Amino acid sequence: PMLYHSVRVLRDNGIGDITIVSSYTGVTQLSQHMGAGFSYMVQPRAGGIVDALLFAERPGTKDQVAVILGDNIFLPSPVLISKAPAPAKCFLYEAKDLSGFGVATLAGGRVARVTEKPAHPQSKYAVVGLYLFSADVFELASKVQPSARGELEITDLLNAYAVSGQLRHEIYTGFWGDAGTPAGLEECRCAFSW
Ligand code: G1P
Repeated sequence: PMLYHSVRVLRDNGIGDITIVSSYTGVTQLSQHMGAGFSYMVQPRAGGIVDALLFAERPGTKDQVAVILGDNIFLPSPVLISKAPAPAKCFLYEAKDLSGFGVATLAGGRVARVTEKPAHPQSKYAVVGLYLFSADVFELASKVQPSARGELEITDLLNAYAVSGQLRHEIYTGFWGDAGTPAGLEECRCAFSW
């Protein structure tokens, strides 16, 4: 499954406690392929990335949280563990076509705002589907309101950190692709053979 690529990024960083969140069908099929060694949670609706994140909450845990989307392909794996962890961190990628992504607006060396699929991007940087948060992310995530399309958007959660200058970023310079569309999948296939 495509998901192996996302799991590899986490495993390369020594992260072994992984919760896979998907639809009922997705969890059924993925658990057959991936087997034991993961926690599985069913997200019963297309409620957005933040909704999925809320299903992965482990009450009482103070561990940091890495969130990676199951259709994002990285080569090589980005380094996630930092000696000075931030409340939130995102990874940016200089993409040729930004139309399908969240886009970062930078000001004074910081991410001032993230805009989901903007008509007029304010930078050349896509916000990729890999995010790091401190354990209190679940409190902030539970306050995110549904967007016009009825989903809890990752950009709204990132902006909750960005407004108070708490969203760090790193520019990823390897290969990154979003294989969630036919064109994106083709781009990933061309970048390396799998
Ligand atoms: C999602 C996020 C978007 C991000 C992208 C990366 O979009 O909403 O901010 O840039 O993943 O792959 P989606 O692919 O679900 O449309």
